[in-house]
Amino acid sequence: MSSPSENPANRSDRPNTLLRPTRSFVRREGRLTRGQAAALERLWPRYGVESEGVIDLDQLFGRNAERVLDIGFGNGEALVAMAAADPARDYLGVEVHRPGIGHCLRSAEQHGLGNLRLFAGDAVELLRAHLPERSLAAVHLFFPDPWPKKRHHKRRLLQPAFLDLLVPRLTPGAILHLATDWEEYALAMLACLEADARWVNLAGRGAFLPPPPPRPRTKFERRGLQRGHTVYDLRYRLV
Ligand SMILES: C[S@@+](CC[C@H](N)C(=O)[O-])C[C@H]1O[C@@H](n2cnc3c(N)ncnc32)[C@H](O)[C@@H]1O
Repeated sequence: MSSPSENPANRSDRPNTLLRPTRSFVRREGRLTRGQAAALERLWPRYGVESEGVIDLDQLFGRNAERVLDIGFGNGEALVAMAAADPARDYLGVEVHRPGIGHCLRSAEQHGLGNLRLFAGDAVELLRAHLPERSLAAVHLFFPDPWPKKRHHKRRLLQPAFLDLLVPRLTPGAILHLATDWEEYALAMLACLEADARWVNLAGRGAFLPPPPPRPRTKFERRGLQRGHTVYDLRYRLV
């Protein structure tokens, strides 16, 4: 038997993905306000998605309609605005941060939304284990954590392996809408999608969408704008 220092899996320059998969987030519970905690308790049965296996989306939403997935919705401000403005489609939000989920639940109730459901957990897990094939007409990834340090780039959500996970869950012609205020991540997103023949850039090859973006502003976006960042939007259609 080899000693731990001889075992290549223990070399410090190599992440041990068997023990701890590379995630796009760090669990930080944050403080739930009393209102958020009460909203989670009261409104989760109405809007929350709990499933051991593949989710029956028609049953979940009580109808058959096009479905939009919003990954990492933050406090849900933009997600609720989009769901309210687009009642013909169903919106599924996924977020790991409980205070954000609590905030979103309150706002969903205030808007009386029937076409919104929330999944509390990792989007990668949701896609891998719980979403049926060909079930999503659109996916939004607005201001994903940019993980600016090079050694953390592997934590970024948007990369080829993520697209491979996503594509089977999309309907033909589905739309992928990405936005970021982190220029270097924007260029990496662009390079990743332009290199993938399954996607057509709706702004033209190699181009970002011209402003203003066709979506509501988000909380993180406002923060970026206040810091003087430029916002980059990309929209692709699945061939
Ligand atoms: C920078 S914030 C942006 C939030 C929101 N989209 C906005 O623009 O205001 C990124 C969010 O993605 C969430 N997140 C990161 N990785 C995730 C994952 N794998 N699954 C679900 N949520 C994730 C984080 O908890 C965080 O709230």
